[in-house]
Amino acid sequence: MDKPYGLLAELTYACPLKCGYCSNPLQLDDYRDELGTEEWKRVFAEAADLGVLQLHLSGGEPLQRHDIVELVRSANRLGLYTNLITSGLGLSRSRAAELREAGLDHVQLSIQSDEQPLSDHIAGTPSFARKQVVAKQVKDLGWPLTLNVVLHRLNIDRIAGIIAMAEAMNADRIELANTQYAGWAGINQPELLPSRGQLDHAEVVVREARERLEGSMEIIYVIPDYYSDYPKPCMDGWAARQFTVVPNGDALPCPAAHELAVGHGIPSANVREHSLGWIWDQAPLFQAFRGDSWMPDPCRSCERKEIDFGGCRCQAFALTGDAARTDPVCHLSPDHGLIEAAVATANDPGRPAGGILIPRATIGRPNRAMTVQ
Ligand code: SF4
Ligand code: FES
Repeated sequence: MDKPYGLLAELTYACPLKCGYCSNPLQLDDYRDELGTEEWKRVFAEAADLGVLQLHLSGGEPLQRHDIVELVRSANRLGLYTNLITSGLGLSRSRAAELREAGLDHVQLSIQSDEQPLSDHIAGTPSFARKQVVAKQVKDLGWPLTLNVVLHRLNIDRIAGIIAMAEAMNADRIELANTQYAGWAGINQPELLPSRGQLDHAEVVVREARERLEGSMEIIYVIPDYYSDYPKPCMDGWAARQFTVVPNGDALPCPAAHELAVGHGIPSANVREHSLGWIWDQAPLFQAFRGDSWMPDPCRSCERKEIDFGGCRCQAFALTGDAARTDPVCHLSPDHGLIEAAVATANDPGRPAGGILIPRATIGRPNRAMTVQ
């Protein structure tokens, strides 16, 4: 069995934004009992002992935690590479300086669009102007800046403007990734999936920008897998390289695995009850789809099973109700018609332009001592 190299710590599901593409779970209230500062520090220490090198601090909005500086400092002392994944809201100049001093290595700032009205519409709250300020602060403090843009039907036509904005911000890297349909993005999938024409336009823009910006800004572009013949090797395979700990301490092989665990009656494994080492080696949820013994045909006899591992277990569960089926994205899957139907809907010429997303719910702030008021 491989050892994990990455830990995604979803510190809180509190968030000032309400993005309809959010992959957080729908039942946000189930995660109000957040791990405390000392519990997270223990998790980080156990992760480092297991060989984890990269710690991604996310949420919700991780800056909602009042102890974020202390958590970064403890991870830094353990030798972990720390990456803050943030909307930027809550990153004042003084807090940014504290995080820098505590050893935070990298900042990944989410961007919704290059235009204020659309950006604030997608985020469900005024945030565009603040992000401009935060991008400058990040560069002023000497951090590498990655912009993280979830692409979808509402913003993909703005891709040229978004790249131009990234250039103006002096970003080192921009990740333009089409939405993964988990959590809130799952219920909004029909409004999020772009048309083929939109994708064709985006690919031309990205190709031109990559040539022009080679050596100055790295551009990652991920198409929606609904338009691929084969699925992505999601998470590099189930419980193979990474794991996630969510705000209440449940440990998951991927951030979206809550739903299939509940759906299949697989017990959760919580860091309050078990060590990370035991969870990685023995927890039933981590064992469930490790390796290839769970695979049905066509995956079982397919030469690509070492390449894509049968695709995404969460997507298989969300679309078929059975996480042990071949990812329907694969054109060899018996369920591929589900994907073809969604793609046909996205390309229906009679479809009105501009859909309305169901906004991600907000949750009250549990453990008030944990969060910034
Ligand atoms: Fe991948 Fe399974 Fe499709 Fe083969 S059949 S390409 S292993 S998803
Ligand atoms: Fe969970 Fe792909 S999102 S395995």
